Amino acid sequence: MTVLIAKNLKKSFSSPHQIELLKGINLTISHQESLAIVGKSGAGKSTLMHILGTLDTPSEGELIINGVNTEEANCYTIRKKKLGFVFQSHYLLENYSVIENVILPAKIARMRFNKQKLGLRLLSAVGLLEHAYLPVKFLSGGEKQRLAIARALCNNPDLILADEPTGSLDSFHAEMVYDLLLRLVKEQGKSIVIVTHDLKAAHLCDRMLILKDGFLSEVTNTINL
Ligand SMILES: Nc1ncnc2c1ncn2[C@@H]1O[C@H](COP(=O)(O)OP(=O)(O)OP(=O)(O)O)[C@@H](O)[C@H]1O
Ligand SMILES: [Mg+2]
Repeated sequence: MTVLIAKNLKKSFSSPHQIELLKGINLTISHQESLAIVGKSGAGKSTLMHILGTLDTPSEGELIINGVNTEEANCYTIRKKKLGFVFQSHYLLENYSVIENVILPAKIARMRFNKQKLGLRLLSAVGLLEHAYLPVKFLSGGEKQRLAIARALCNNPDLILADEPTGSLDSFHAEMVYDLLLRLVKEQGKSIVIVTHDLKAAHLCDRMLILKDGFLSEVTNTINL
């Protein structure tokens, strides 16, 4: 089963000068698949992730999520029900507590179950249980990153889009996060796209693609990022 199909996605910017950043992205993400995207800084990985998550629109091309063409669909509903985001800049509510940040997507999606209980379970999975009631502004950089990961899982998404989810983490916590995310794929049938500079982690995924010169291609041998 296919979760996402991208057909010939292009993205151009006209200011400060005309550039074609994405020149024709074709991508299929299957149910229960983990995909790593690597590439140099500035290659367009975050831009592509935002487009795949319907937070930005392509200049050209088609995006189909769970069989629905996003041009014709209500993208708000798709994001709310189907997608989980880990942003490169975390976008947390700094003055709210850790637990309030985690359960925010479930609140927006008006999920009926015990959100507090779920929130605490997710915080425990990323090693943040003891900070549940602390305002986010008191967390360290890596703790904020782990909180952003817990939040991305709160609406039980089919597809998780994680943009450098372990960029500020030590190896112990990076491993914890990869273990958690890849277990969700194997055990709960989720799909995930992970942008990373960590090639060792990228190799844990089912597939690795490199974004270079506006195109995605399979990584076949050792690469220099
Ligand atoms: N709205 C915009 N207008 C003009 N240029 C933009 C715009 N958005 C992004 N860019 C440029 O596109 C390029 C790619 O940005 P992007 O954030 O997608 O890169 P990235 O591959 O995620 O890099 P990194 O690994 O550093 O996070 C950058 O040079 C950026 O300045
Ligand atoms: Mg980026």
